[in-house]
Amino acid sequence: MKTKYDSTLVNKLNFENVLLDSLPNPVYYKDTNGKFIRCNSSFSKLVNTSKKDIIGKLAYKFFPKSVANRHKSIDKIIMKTLENYADEIIFPLQNGEIKYFILNKAVYLNQDGSVGGIVCVMNDITQSIKEKEFLIQQSKLAEMGEMVASIAHQWNEPLVEISAQVQKIQLNYLLNKVNKNIMSNFVNDTMVQIKYMSDTLSDFRNFLKPSTIKKEFLIKKSIDEIFEIVGKQIFYFNIKIAFDYENEKIKIFGYENELKQVLLNIINNAKHKIIKKNKNDDFKGIITIKIYSDNEFNIIDIRDNAGSIDKTIIDQLFEPFFTTKVDGTGFGLYMAKIIIQDNMSGKILVKNDHDDNVIFSIKIPKYTNGNIL
Ligand SMILES: Nc1ncnc2c1ncn2[C@@H]1O[C@H](COP(=O)(O)OP(=O)(O)OP(=O)(O)O)[C@@H](O)[C@H]1O
Ligand SMILES: [Mg+2]
Repeated sequence: MKTKYDSTLVNKLNFENVLLDSLPNPVYYKDTNGKFIRCNSSFSKLVNTSKKDIIGKLAYKFFPKSVANRHKSIDKIIMKTLENYADEIIFPLQNGEIKYFILNKAVYLNQDGSVGGIVCVMNDITQSIKEKEFLIQQSKLAEMGEMVASIAHQWNEPLVEISAQVQKIQLNYLLNKVNKNIMSNFVNDTMVQIKYMSDTLSDFRNFLKPSTIKKEFLIKKSIDEIFEIVGKQIFYFNIKIAFDYENEKIKIFGYENELKQVLLNIINNAKHKIIKKNKNDDFKGIITIKIYSDNEFNIIDIRDNAGSIDKTIIDQLFEPFFTTKVDGTGFGLYMAKIIIQDNMSGKILVKNDHDDNVIFSIKIPKYTNGNIL
């Protein structure tokens, strides 16, 4: 026979079920072994599995392996520390669509105070990620004009070389001198030039692709790749680039192409200022790129020597649409701030130094999710 206590409990459970099922956020509970013990309808719909078939399963059944692995260790840690935890994940749906979620996790305790397991509330952030990606892509397109000019510049030399080779082989043919050796030299020499042209194009294509996953990469490699694309142009304007690496092996965790975009924008800003100053006086422009780290951050400083920023505007540089250029969009540094601060949990700062140089500093945390990189 049911007691009054039992029916209150049943009522309470019914209420909780209705409450959970009315939430748009997927929610689930797991026990200390990582097995699902409860979930709401949104979660069941997300993983396209009935509630009954979810119970007793491990996260590996529903989440990508890398996510499940990472969360196995996260769960272990928070069941000891009892602290809440939030983590961004990529979640591919069965139809191939990619969703982004924040997993908000907390530990729940049993009545006797022992750890019962983990509760997780999932927050769908796909829309806001897509909007940010769109903005970032827009600002990449803004840099595209410069890049096309730079490719055209970079293709000039190999094109001249290939034309010379073609004319030479024609001459050899007319003189009846074409033999196996001459032919194979011709093919080798032209292929070298063609490969160079095709590499330039694929660098460019890679730059335009959005990076969808955070990964570890060598910062020196990214900087080298930027100069593969824009280096010739900078050289053409007679601007000196100085590198000052404390350690060439410094690695960064984040979105590689987006970071390249930020660096490119800052370098282009410095380049424009130097070219403008060059028009008026005979001045030797230098852009210095320094890479180093402190306890907390890996730091990239980009310094130019073409004059300081007026104190009255220095605080506005990262605001959207702030520009002092006739044809500027004022979008570059704003996007840089979004990419560095929001997407990579870092900082971006600007200052004038004592010699009236301008220094932009990008600081990316060395530690992420409690792990040392
Ligand atoms: N190295 C620098 N030295 C001095 N001022 C700078 C420097 N970099 C940026 N600025 C100032 O910051 C403003 C905003 O830069 P941002 O890159 O956001 O846009 P923009 O360069 O004006 O426009 P766009 O990037 O579309 O060409 C610039 O107009 C300029 O006044
Ligand atoms: Mg700019």
